[in-house]
Amino acid sequence: MAFDYKVADLSLAEFGRKEIRLAEHEMPGLMATRAEFGDSKPLTGAKIMGSLHMTVQTAVLIETLVALGAEVRWVSCNIFSTQDHAAAAVVVGPNGTPDNPQGVPVFAWKGETLEEYWWCTEQALNWPGGAPNMILDDGGDATMLVHKGAEYEKAGAVPDPSTADSDEFRVVLELLNRNFAEDPQKWTRIAPHIKGVTEETTTGVHRLYEMHRDGALLFPAINVNDSVTKSKFDNKYGCRHSLVDGINRATDVLIGGKVAVILGYGDVGKGCAESLRGQGARVIVTEIDPICALQAAMDGYQVATLEDVVETADIFVTTTGNFNIIMADHMARMKHQAIVGNIGHFDNEIDMAGLAATPGVEKIEIKPQVHEWRFADGHSIIVLSEGRLLNLGNATGHPSFVMSNSFTNQTIAQIELFTKPGEYPVGVYVLPKHLDEKVARMHLDALGVRLTELTKEQAAYIGVDVAGPYKPDTYRY
Ligand code: NAI
Repeated sequence: MAFDYKVADLSLAEFGRKEIRLAEHEMPGLMATRAEFGDSKPLTGAKIMGSLHMTVQTAVLIETLVALGAEVRWVSCNIFSTQDHAAAAVVVGPNGTPDNPQGVPVFAWKGETLEEYWWCTEQALNWPGGAPNMILDDGGDATMLVHKGAEYEKAGAVPDPSTADSDEFRVVLELLNRNFAEDPQKWTRIAPHIKGVTEETTTGVHRLYEMHRDGALLFPAINVNDSVTKSKFDNKYGCRHSLVDGINRATDVLIGGKVAVILGYGDVGKGCAESLRGQGARVIVTEIDPICALQAAMDGYQVATLEDVVETADIFVTTTGNFNIIMADHMARMKHQAIVGNIGHFDNEIDMAGLAATPGVEKIEIKPQVHEWRFADGHSIIVLSEGRLLNLGNATGHPSFVMSNSFTNQTIAQIELFTKPGEYPVGVYVLPKHLDEKVARMHLDALGVRLTELTKEQAAYIGVDVAGPYKPDTYRY
């Protein structure tokens, strides 16, 4: 049956399928979930709109959701993060051909413009003959579009792009403005169909808690990020792998001996600092939180302010999920050919607009997602992925094994919200600890881990069940 989609090139599907096949072996949690639920198909009737980096690992997630009975439409949650061969393979499907695609509608390609990005997001939410009833989000853009659209429609207010405070939001308001003119009930019609959203990342989770606090959240949400087997693994070990991968593919500069500054020492910052230290860099951390600053110091890093080191360091990576971290003025003061990148979710950690507006500055493309910015005095810096998350823009993001942990949480969260709507009134939830422990357990055999079993007496002594959960919710790992 013909279906709509837009990807770069379907002839890449065979390569994508080969990498998906290798990834499946490295994603034991997702494959075990297929084995457990493949017959009962708990997601039958689920129409899942997904907005999450369209990579090989995400392809295995998408095909797991389909194996569990769901219908799916997908977009990437970043303009640079799509792997075109993975997108092609998902559209073609395991049994289709490029001439006769039989897979899942995907709207994503590497190097979208902002207009194309939001067009893709809207296409995936435009469900043929109806509406999606679930969202799987990463960073909250799909959730935001539905909420903003419904908010304007309920207020009867025409979205006005000239009120936008950023380029990106201007594009969103232009889209909503067009929607409002063509179909002023579009988003108020879609929103009530949505049973819930499962959110992947720290930044998206912040947005959800804010909306819930303000009474604006329209449907329940599961915060997948704060499953221990997500944020303490993907954010940390994933970035430990993919940060250095991104810097290497972008620049191939020798990292050993260089001075690297990691801005922010949360889960992502911890993985990034270790990644660069592993290469022999001398790592300096900046923090605003005394607890994280003390952790960094005790982990053996110098903790300084950006002002202290901006003129002497070689590599700068923002990991804060905050904004205005490295400003144009900082970049102008950096050493010749200092490397600047961001691994946080949004591109506003680095002041790219201010950099572009610096008098006399020149932008030279070395290759896609690697730019030299030459200042009027002749010295230059190298900016990766135009300030967007460099591990997905310059490399291929986190590897399969760690994403299997994240995506098994995603799949379980989708099943929870879709099959037990009565148990989740509008609000933001984390998965219960026994499911978190289940996700970890699914990944032990592949690593040859031999777990010690509690005796009944030991379990009673520490006040837990032999089968878990083993820790109270307050435990921080
Ligand atoms: P987190 O909240 O654990 O860590 C952020 C840290 O930055 C905190 O310790 C905070 O105190 C610090 N911080 C805030 N403002 C700062 C400032 N002005 N200067 C220095 N430090 C500051 O968050 P997490 O989980 O580490 O995530 C960080 C960002 O990375 C988020 O945007 C998240 O969505 C994103 N992320 C990206 C991934 C990727 O693959 N690129 C993977 C996982 C998360």
